[in-house]
Amino acid sequence: MSSARCILVGLFCAVLLGGSLSHGQLTPTFYDESCPDVTSIVRGVIEAALQTDARIGASLIRLHFHDCFVNGCDGSLLLNNTATIESEKDVLGNSNSVRGFGVVDDIKTALESACPGIVSCADLLAVAAEESVSLAGGPSWSTLLGRRDGTTANRTLAGINLPGAFDTLQILKDKFSAMGLNTTDLVALSGAHTFGRGQCSTFDPRLYNFNSTGNPDPTLNSTYLTTLRGICPENGSGTGPADLDPTTPDAFDNNYYSNLQVNKGLLVTDQELFSTEGEDTIDIVNSFSSDQTAFFASFVESMIKMGNISPLTGVEGEVRLNCGRVNDEDALLYSSI
Ligand code: HEM
Repeated sequence: MSSARCILVGLFCAVLLGGSLSHGQLTPTFYDESCPDVTSIVRGVIEAALQTDARIGASLIRLHFHDCFVNGCDGSLLLNNTATIESEKDVLGNSNSVRGFGVVDDIKTALESACPGIVSCADLLAVAAEESVSLAGGPSWSTLLGRRDGTTANRTLAGINLPGAFDTLQILKDKFSAMGLNTTDLVALSGAHTFGRGQCSTFDPRLYNFNSTGNPDPTLNSTYLTTLRGICPENGSGTGPADLDPTTPDAFDNNYYSNLQVNKGLLVTDQELFSTEGEDTIDIVNSFSSDQTAFFASFVESMIKMGNISPLTGVEGEVRLNCGRVNDEDALLYSSI
């Protein structure tokens, strides 16, 4: 559409052009010349890690999500504590919960060896998320690339922005909406809980004394309740873990949604997508449950949207050489040797 015509339709075009500009900054061909094998390198390291850790793909996509929800997809989650950086890893929701940093380091080492100083940690997470889904039997897509790494972390914002295991559906909607993600995105992206695990503390209040009622969560299938009580005894250590998808724990498919239809969602935030009376999320769960192709298409679209949250591009930020620390610190370390 020409800019002259855009002047005519004012607001509509402002939104359209704004959207397409911010999306236009990333491109699937970004590393075609500078690091053409980026995808296969990332895939190879994940494939090797899967041999001993069936859950690693799930852990990696979660890192991308928790990165993007705090200051955009800028690799900030990967930064460790220093005198000036308060690591996001230490916030409730990440601490003793997010995992996979060793494999991120292995991927970075492989990328640095093939194309030194080229691939950002933020892009590494985006590619690792896509490859993890694909390796688990889910869809593949062209990841948009060209993100640069931030030089700061924001622990306070992580505490505010990341969804919590006991958030109401309205709070989930609000947190996604603050990222530019709508209700369909919320339901589609929650489908990532088709693989991976949750530790007892993230769901065991549902098993015994839900909301101080003295009873379990009424939206919990009774057979499933017995299984989960076996994994997480009352007053137990609280670690579990339990499969987020009890039907096909390590496969990326649409069973997450059929589980919700029979009250087998592990987290409150999963089950409430289907069990909150009158909500628009119910129809979306039903449609993804009956049509895996529709789920995959929506999931890809929503992953691309999530991956587009406020990327740093061009000369902004840097390409970190070590994902756990900013390059300045690397320089300081080397100069003091
Ligand atoms: C809708 C809001 C969400 C909430 C409240 C939520 C919450 C959680 C919680 C509590 C866990 C278990 C953590 C633990 O055991 O310590 C978890 C695991 C996981 N989450 Fe989410 N999540 C949400 C959305 C997402 C999204 C958007 C994605 C990715 C696109 C995602 C991917 C995962 C994966 C794959 C795991 C398993 C990780 C592993 O096994 O290491 N989640 N999530």
